[in-house]
Amino acid sequence: MPKSELLIREARPEDKPHVLTFVRRTWRWGDYIPKVWDEWFNEHHGRILVAVLHGEVVGMNHVRFPTPNYAWLEGARVHPKHRRKGVATALALNALEFSSARGATIARLATSSNNEPAKAHLMKLGFRVEAEFVWLQGTPPNESHAVKIREAERSELGSLWLEIKRSAVYKASAGLIGRGWAWYEMNRQTLSEYANQGGLFLASTGLKRTGIALLGSAKGENVIEVAYIHGVQSAVKSLLNLSSNSDRRPSSKRVRIFAPKHQLLLARLLKVGLKEKGKYLVFSKQI
Ligand SMILES: CC(C)(COP(=O)(O)OP(=O)(O)OC[C@H]1O[C@@H](n2cnc3c(N)ncnc32)[C@H](O)[C@@H]1OP(=O)(O)O)[C@@H](O)C(=O)NCCC(=O)NCCS
Repeated sequence: MPKSELLIREARPEDKPHVLTFVRRTWRWGDYIPKVWDEWFNEHHGRILVAVLHGEVVGMNHVRFPTPNYAWLEGARVHPKHRRKGVATALALNALEFSSARGATIARLATSSNNEPAKAHLMKLGFRVEAEFVWLQGTPPNESHAVKIREAERSELGSLWLEIKRSAVYKASAGLIGRGWAWYEMNRQTLSEYANQGGLFLASTGLKRTGIALLGSAKGENVIEVAYIHGVQSAVKSLLNLSSNSDRRPSSKRVRIFAPKHQLLLARLLKVGLKEKGKYLVFSKQI
C-alpha cells in the first residue's frame, strides 16, 4: 500500500465511535479499550494515535510516559479487515518517533505470550523480549502462624533495596514490576513509594528475615496487587494473607500478581492456591 494512503494522526473526539466498532470483540472476552478510551484521551502526557485509510479509522495505539525517559506503548488495534497492510507498524513507528522527540530513550510494552501476530510484528520492529511474567490470581491464603509480619521502616529502605537487587526473583524479572497491566522499572524510589503507602512488608521467623512483599490496591478494580514478592513458602503465604487482612487497609478477597518466571516462586504461589490466568511477555526497544 502506498504510504500516502495511510495517515497517522492524534485521535480526535469524533474518532471514538469508529474505533469502538472494531475493538469490541478483539478477543473472545471482548476488549478493555472502550473502558479506558476517555481516560487515555484526556491524559496530558500521553497520546492516542489513530490510523486513517481512505478516510476510515482503521487502527489505534496509545503511548504514555511513566517517567520522562520511558515510553509505555499499549492498545495497538487494527480493524480485522485491514490487517497485514502495515497499519500497526505505521502506528508504532509514529509513537516511537513522538516518544523520542519527547526525550524517551526506551520503549516497552507487553503482550500475551501466545499472541503470535503481535510477537511477529514487534520482533520485526526491533523490539526484544526482556522478561516473561505469569499472571496469577486467587483468594488470599491463611496466614502461617510461625511467621511474624511487619511494615518496613524508612531507615531500612537502603538495605532492603540491596537485598531485593541481589535476589533471584528480581533478576528473573529483569528489574521490572507489573501493576495495573503495565510494567515499570523497580528502584529504591519504588520501595519508598510503597513504604509511604504502608505497602512494604517484611516477614521473619525468629530473628531471620524470610520474605519481602510490595502490596497495593489496583486502580478501579477490587483486587490487591502484589508488585513484588520473594521469600520462603511460609513467608509467601503470610505476606499474601495481608491482602485480605482488614486490619491493614486496603484489603480485598482477591489477590493478583504478575510473577517473573522464577520456578521456585511460581511453585510457592501455586501451592498457596493462586491460579495461573495467563502469561505476558514484556518487550523493549531503545529509541
Ligand atoms: C497485532 C496487530 C496489531 C498487527 O497489526 P497489523 O496492522 O496487521 O500489522 P502489520 O501489517 O504492521 O504487520 C507487520 C508485521 O508483523 C507480522 N505479522 C502481523 N500479523 C501477523 C500474523 N497474523 N501472522 C504472522 N505475522 C504477522 C508480519 O511480520 C508483518 O509483516 P508482513 O505483513 O510484511 O509479513 C493486529 O493483528 C491486531 O490488531 N490484533 C488484535 C489486537 C492485538 O493483538 N494487539 C496487540 C496487543 S499487544
